Amino acid sequence: MNAIAFTDVSRTYGDVLAVDGLNLTVEAGRTVALLGPNGAGKSTSINMLLGLLRPTRGRIEVFGRSPDEAVARGEVGAMLQEGELIPELTVRELVDFVRRLYPRPLDLDEILKMADLTDLVKRRADKLSGGQSQRVRFAMAIAGAPKLLVLDEPTAAMDVESRLRFWESMRAYAAGGRTVLFATHYLEEADESSDRVIVIARGRVVADGTAAQIKAGAGGQTVRFTLGGQASAGLDALPGVTAVEILAGTATLSTADPDATVAALYRGTSLEIRDLRIAGADLEDAFLALTKES
Ligand SMILES: Nc1ncnc2c1ncn2[C@@H]1O[C@H](COP(=O)(O)OP(=O)(O)OP(=O)(O)O)[C@@H](O)[C@H]1O
Ligand SMILES: [Mg+2]
Repeated sequence: MNAIAFTDVSRTYGDVLAVDGLNLTVEAGRTVALLGPNGAGKSTSINMLLGLLRPTRGRIEVFGRSPDEAVARGEVGAMLQEGELIPELTVRELVDFVRRLYPRPLDLDEILKMADLTDLVKRRADKLSGGQSQRVRFAMAIAGAPKLLVLDEPTAAMDVESRLRFWESMRAYAAGGRTVLFATHYLEEADESSDRVIVIARGRVVADGTAAQIKAGAGGQTVRFTLGGQASAGLDALPGVTAVEILAGTATLSTADPDATVAALYRGTSLEIRDLRIAGADLEDAFLALTKES
């Protein structure tokens, strides 16, 4: 059973093509990260998935139904990138209000505990810090015990510690066989908290797989050293080298054969090499490579 299916989905705003022929299915029970730079089309895709925005073309299904139907049945919970909390209510009142809108909500204390809000229950919603508000939004998103939880950059205002605790809560929620889709810019989050990473850029899928597969797909390794003011001509002709980037006096060579590249670097050139480092492609390299080309 697919939790999510996008078939040939496009969305334009005037003459901006925000989502461009997206085809995507997510099996029920998976946790999927939607990774992409600013303006990639993450929020547009998420808003269409939630029925808040209509596709210009194509079709979206959530558990085999239209997004509107799935939302009406209480099967979907979401944390959006924007949105105000009701200011006059306390955290406890607000979360309880939301959970009562659903047919089979979670227990109130369970929600408050899961969202790490037990110390803040009496606080008014407009007296919260940015990170605390995010936790209340998370509580509201899980209140109805949705089968599909959709999170648009949920950790945006959180410090490192809150972020770690947030992902623990999210994983605990997902562990019961629920489906989670979250958008993020943070590669470590995608790597650590999802079992599948979909990278989008300019409204299209540019990579789709486990974090490990995406790293491997970015190919090879990098040889990095301080070049300083020396001329960089000829580096791209060294054995194994597939790409050369010079940034602020540091040369980064992508290579399929670091041994051969380094040997030739020392023997075949008269460059003075300092601070030589060899590294495997990490997710960040992969992400940059993927979102730069195409
Ligand atoms: N209401 C709108 N009117 C016009 N253009 C829009 C609107 N909303 C988004 N866009 C454009 O659509 C494209 C995709 O935007 P979207 O918000 O989906 O990106 P995103 O991946 O969520 O980015 P971010 O990481 O910054 O949140 C961008 O080029 C954006 O400028
Ligand atoms: Mg967005």
